Amino acid sequence: MTSSVLFVCLGNICRSPLAEGALRAEAAELGLDLIVDSAGTGNWHAGEPPDRRAQAVARRHGVDISGLRARQVRPEDFRRFTHVIALDHDNLANLRKLAPADGSAELSLLLDHVEGREGQAVADPWFGDDAGFEVTWAEVSAAARALAARLRR
Ligand code: 4NP
Repeated sequence: MTSSVLFVCLGNICRSPLAEGALRAEAAELGLDLIVDSAGTGNWHAGEPPDRRAQAVARRHGVDISGLRARQVRPEDFRRFTHVIALDHDNLANLRKLAPADGSAELSLLLDHVEGREGQAVADPWFGDDAGFEVTWAEVSAAARALAARLRR
């Protein structure tokens, strides 16, 4: 079965679109057949492209996320995706509340997939500067690498 991964943060304009872009790039490089999407627990930014600072950091690392559009997570996501991956603990707690009884997706925290970073959160870079977005990129790309390697097996 083709694995499918949904990344979830709060606004779906900073962290989860970066994780989506990083995993898409990793899957393309490995020739891995993978469905990748992202969503937010909130809906304030629905329909919007990623924050321009997120677009810029991805572009600096060779990944174009300008075509992504924000959406809110919905109950069917827990049936459609094999993996639903939260960027921080609040996102994970909200996902656990939203998950329907017949949801089959495996829930996890993004950094659970990075050796030595298990249980840690990807901080929200929204109130920070470009340096914060570089930290976010480093974290999501490390997780994307580890996830792609695991899903290939
Ligand atoms: P994200 O960052 O969850 O990484 O997309 C945020 C973007 C916007 C807001 C919060 C977090 N906001 O409150 O508008």
